[in-house]
Amino acid sequence: MVSRRHFVSGALALTAGTLTADRELLARVPVGPPLPQRPKSSTSARVHTLKITADRHRRRLLGPDGPEAETWDFAESLFPVIRANRGDTLRATLENKLPEHTSIHWHGVRVPNAMDGVQYLTQPPVQTGETFDYVFDVLDSGTFFFHPHCDETGQVGRGLAGILVVEGDEVRRADADHVLVLKDWRISPDGTWLPFLTNEGASRAGTFGAARSINGEQLFAVSVPAHGDIRLRVVNLDSTRIVELGIEGAPAFVIAIDGHAIPPFKLDTWRMGPAMRLDISVRAPGAGRSFSLVDYSGATIWTGATFTSGASKLKSRPVAPIPLYAPDVPQPAARSASPVTLRFGNSGGDLTSYGADLSSDDPLSKVLLDSLCVQSKAFWTINGVSWPTGDHRKLPPPLMKLKAGETYAFEFQNVTSHTHPIHLHGHVFEVLSSSKRQFVPYFADTVLVAPKERVTIAFVAAPGNWMLHCHILEHLATGMMGYIQVA
Ligand code: C2O
Ligand code: CU
Repeated sequence: MVSRRHFVSGALALTAGTLTADRELLARVPVGPPLPQRPKSSTSARVHTLKITADRHRRRLLGPDGPEAETWDFAESLFPVIRANRGDTLRATLENKLPEHTSIHWHGVRVPNAMDGVQYLTQPPVQTGETFDYVFDVLDSGTFFFHPHCDETGQVGRGLAGILVVEGDEVRRADADHVLVLKDWRISPDGTWLPFLTNEGASRAGTFGAARSINGEQLFAVSVPAHGDIRLRVVNLDSTRIVELGIEGAPAFVIAIDGHAIPPFKLDTWRMGPAMRLDISVRAPGAGRSFSLVDYSGATIWTGATFTSGASKLKSRPVAPIPLYAPDVPQPAARSASPVTLRFGNSGGDLTSYGADLSSDDPLSKVLLDSLCVQSKAFWTINGVSWPTGDHRKLPPPLMKLKAGETYAFEFQNVTSHTHPIHLHGHVFEVLSSSKRQFVPYFADTVLVAPKERVTIAFVAAPGNWMLHCHILEHLATGMMGYIQVA
């Protein structure tokens, strides 16, 4: 006879088994109580005045004995980290010393539209020798990054990006905090760059790099305090690769997604597409022992970083994640949301979307003419149209016009046979549900949509023209990009 207890635990086991088997599972039942609200007094209000110079450097990306390569960077170092507090003001002057125009897009940061850094759409391109001032308040704490928004495959491909860490979310300080930037290099053994965009890759899953790295190093190694709670801020800055992360050798929890705190849950494995971030809380083992960050997505497990415990005053104690405050982003009223469908599809390489009716007095068509934001082929579409490529140099109309302050529920439908990390600028959205996966809703700015999957997100629309695109850089460069107009 099957007792009710058996039946119940059998059902639970079945559910858990189904969930674990799904490698794309995004979140499990939270292990902890709801996150505490942040005290009002916790907001700081400093002004950070920064100079960010985009320039070329020579670096040995293939190890100390390897050849030099020419990287493009926003500082003397690769992937500079800006640290600010929630409530601070950032005044960053970008100076461009690169041979082509550039800009800074603050990925995932809720900025005024004019500070969003999209050439032609929100600002003029910053030409060689020119400067541009970005001024905005940082509203949300968390792990963010910044990058240019034109010739992204070439500029980000050479390393042009930086990290923005906004502090102020920790109820109790972590014992150590490390930013880990994942990036593959399209580099040949002699240090020259391989093509950043290939038709072969762009029309499929993207072109993969030849050498993997974390923080620019092939095996990143660092010492951490024994028995400490270590906060790892993982940023997938690769142009192409979707990783499946895990921690080997120590207990680990997911504490934030795309910078925004969630009720922590045990990290098993986690899929992360380009531009996505994951904050992990790891309890370091005793002195002399180590743990590592690994990627399970390939045929063999890749170890990217190792952390070895050094002496510390901390004692062994029960494992618990670093406590964070609840995010306070605009809460979408999902029930009253206006539903909108966005279909991500293929275009077969032909340009069918916009007529080549260049009116030469249209300033946008003129600047787009010799811009680098367009490619000669379109392989991808959003709602049946491709972002203009080489032959179609007019800024297209928006994908849709929305009302500021209204809540919208977007259903992303992927009708292609590849996975796309879809990003909406200027907003933090709530990922509500998927046709293929079960999870607890969470906040994010980029979401993976698998083939044949439908994912629903909701957000409160902020005024401006906001890009919406796949973050596999070759996909956005070959059509899978558009913008919404909110007024
Ligand atoms: Cu990282 Cu258009 O974005
Ligand atoms: Cu894509």
